[in-house]
Amino acid sequence: PFYKTMFGLSELEETIRTHYGLSQVVIVAGDSEVSAQTKRELGRACSQILVKVMRPNDVVAVTGGTTIAQVSNQLASSSELKTNWFVPARGGLGESLDYQANTIASMMAKRTGAQYRLLHVPDHLGEEAFASIMNEPNIREIVDVIRSARIVVHGIGDAMVMARRRRLDRAIIDAMEAEGALAESFGFYFDRKGAVVHKMQTVGLRLEDIVKTEVVIGVAGGKSKGEAIAAIMRFGHNDVLVTDEAAALEMVALI
Ligand code: BG6
Repeated sequence: PFYKTMFGLSELEETIRTHYGLSQVVIVAGDSEVSAQTKRELGRACSQILVKVMRPNDVVAVTGGTTIAQVSNQLASSSELKTNWFVPARGGLGESLDYQANTIASMMAKRTGAQYRLLHVPDHLGEEAFASIMNEPNIREIVDVIRSARIVVHGIGDAMVMARRRRLDRAIIDAMEAEGALAESFGFYFDRKGAVVHKMQTVGLRLEDIVKTEVVIGVAGGKSKGEAIAAIMRFGHNDVLVTDEAAALEMVALI
């Protein structure tokens, strides 16, 4: 594309980094929506950053999704990571098993030789059941571990794509759309300015936990996610963004 030949990916990284006040932006060439190779590269770039920022005994909270699954696939066994813990960022959000945060956290731990803890909370709980689950000592304990995470790694999705993937009720989807829902991450839905317009009821990280997490790494690519990624960056609590050229070009067009 034009931008690439004119300025190169590192200029694109710097433009996005300074505009959103991030500490690091990494852009891989191509469009991960159309190229499996680019999606693997996205995963690889993110896994390298993650390993670099991890310190002994760190707790790393991860979301689910196909992109985070690629991050997991690119992690390799390392004795240095043995004292680390991988945990899911939040409880059930209605994903298929392979792409649930629990599955990814356990995969990452197995691949690196680290430890993991899982959060067994069913999706779509009623209020009463939710309140009593939150009083379970076992659940409280793991929730406390999750909230102590120094590092969070998360995917980013288009709000309507994620709402359909999670089979949210039509009425909820309509209400969110009316409020301008554009992006999704962690089970929270955001408008274009990065304001939260809907939250899915589950346990784990709250917005106030994400805000004070030391290292927040977002990984997402594909042309159609550009606007959603920009919205999450406007929410303003990311430190690192790993994306691809196609999404990055959409993002700079919005600046
Ligand atoms: C979900 C995460 O599991 O995956 C979300 O909880 C994210 O934060 C979504 O938006 C993205 O999925 P994918 O498959 O497009 O990487």
